[in-house]
Amino acid sequence: MARTTDFSPLEGLKGRSILRLTDLSAAEIRGVVTLARALKADYAAFRGVLAQRALAMLFEKPSLRTRVSFEIGFQKLGGCVSFLDHRNERIGARETIADYGRNLERWADGIVARVFSHETLTSLRAACSAPIVNALSEIAHPCQALADAQTLVEHGVALESCHLAWLGDGNNVCLSLMELTALMGGRMTVVTPASHRPCTTLTAEIQAIAAKTGARITLTDDPAAVAGADAVYTDAWISMGQQECPEKVASLRNLSVTPELMQIAGPRAKFMHCRPAHRGEEVVDPVIDGPQSVVFDQAENRMHAQNALLLALLGALPASANPRTLAMQA
Ligand code: CP
Ligand code: NVA
Repeated sequence: MARTTDFSPLEGLKGRSILRLTDLSAAEIRGVVTLARALKADYAAFRGVLAQRALAMLFEKPSLRTRVSFEIGFQKLGGCVSFLDHRNERIGARETIADYGRNLERWADGIVARVFSHETLTSLRAACSAPIVNALSEIAHPCQALADAQTLVEHGVALESCHLAWLGDGNNVCLSLMELTALMGGRMTVVTPASHRPCTTLTAEIQAIAAKTGARITLTDDPAAVAGADAVYTDAWISMGQQECPEKVASLRNLSVTPELMQIAGPRAKFMHCRPAHRGEEVVDPVIDGPQSVVFDQAENRMHAQNALLLALLGALPASANPRTLAMQA
């Protein structure tokens, strides 16, 4: 008999917004990963669970993975999506952010937004009763971190004891992974030049969470600190919205993920990248295309993790049940 999956840890998420990973508890993150894996295993069992539901997607920046995984993912479960391209006109330019959000929520059950300023998300959350989901801001990429949590678990790494090594710029993805580590109680080594460490205010906030959970987050500029890591993670040196800066690139050159660096990490270490990747900069081909790389699993899992999150936020969770039973009921 197939195992029953219990989604009750996610019930309290109904109606909430997720702007940072710290908007979730450790139990809720575990619940999202469990539901994401159930979805991935058997989409047919969840057929139609989002019928009549609509999602508005506002993007001020380009996207491949986030846009497609939300659009296809939501529609696979029976919902419909409306994409609002804000690459040429910032949200709030034509009417206030609050008015914009209050219009949208009359049609859409949830709002997903990729923005230049995190404040756009907090303004939307303040104005709307519909859940707001951060699809990337300058300080956070929580949906990426949820997919990464799923990917680590699938590759046999327990989040509670995971040692994640970050190399490169201390950016939005780095901060969300620090939040993941702090919440779950694992370990993270953040290797950046001293001039490109993650935001000090947010780091202090995250370290305060880590102090409570027993997580260990260490900041260093020494790439040898990746030794023994479960995963080595990197990202673009210049994020969307940042100025091209040759000095910054020069200061990051010794943090490129090369086969030599992966050797220091060890044969067990997975290579991770949220992408888009800049081959020859933060990572070289033999690593991203090599046997330790799990980058396509990360990309695939964006869809499953986001769908799991949205089912919970929209109050569309299946009852605690065997997914195969759900299929028979559909
Ligand atoms: N990782 C990620 O968010 O990719 P996109 O920018 O293509 O959405
Ligand atoms: N740090 C990158 C992530 C892209 C998914 C950026 O913000 O551009």
